[in-house]
Amino acid sequence: MRKNLGVQPALFPMPVVIVAAYGADGSICAMNAAWAQICGMDKIALFIDADHKTTKNIMETGAFTVNIADVPNMAPADFFGIATGNKMPDKFERSGCHAEKSAFVNAPVITEFPVAIECELAEEINTENMHAIVGRIINVSAEETVVGDKDKIVPEKVNALIFDQYRSGYYAVGEKVGQAWNAGAGLMKN
Ligand SMILES: Cc1cc2nc3c(=O)[nH]c(=O)nc-3n(C[C@H](O)[C@H](O)[C@H](O)COP(=O)(O)O)c2cc1C
Repeated sequence: MRKNLGVQPALFPMPVVIVAAYGADGSICAMNAAWAQICGMDKIALFIDADHKTTKNIMETGAFTVNIADVPNMAPADFFGIATGNKMPDKFERSGCHAEKSAFVNAPVITEFPVAIECELAEEINTENMHAIVGRIINVSAEETVVGDKDKIVPEKVNALIFDQYRSGYYAVGEKVGQAWNAGAGLMKN
């Protein structure tokens, strides 16, 4: 028997990314975002409210980074989603995290997090149904410890957090169970 549960944003799993951007004065703001998705080979879409301090920074500087949150940094990652730079000007400093300017875009890379997707603002989409910030990916940087053969990132080493939209839990990524474009290949013969 299935149960009907009504309307809810029931997609699972969701990523946990920390979006970071400089303000016009050079200060850093960063926020937690779970509503984020790749939308092209060199594009990422963030569904973030226009009134967040980080969003305002992005609109001012035209650049941002998307930092993959990992299990060891769960506390600052969550803090970035609780506090707002609109009311806490030293939010980034209070997080205990550190940043260095991307070599490719005018945005801060948070050094504690293992992977950063460095973007220029490509488009803001504001309709009745969504507010999206679309970034053009200019570079991806990663800690050497999470980079394997052929410069491919090794998911097990990233130790990324997953967000559970149902009960607001954070989860760790589990083990690899298969290979995409291969696990279903046998059924092609049916
Ligand atoms: C787990 C988690 C996920 C979140 N995902 C989003 C999101 O996808 N979009 C959004 O607009 N806000 C999201 N938030 C809320 C913002 O991170 C939060 O409002 C934050 O205070 C904004 O910070 P700022 O005003 O300093 O930029 C999320 C918060 C948490 C804890």
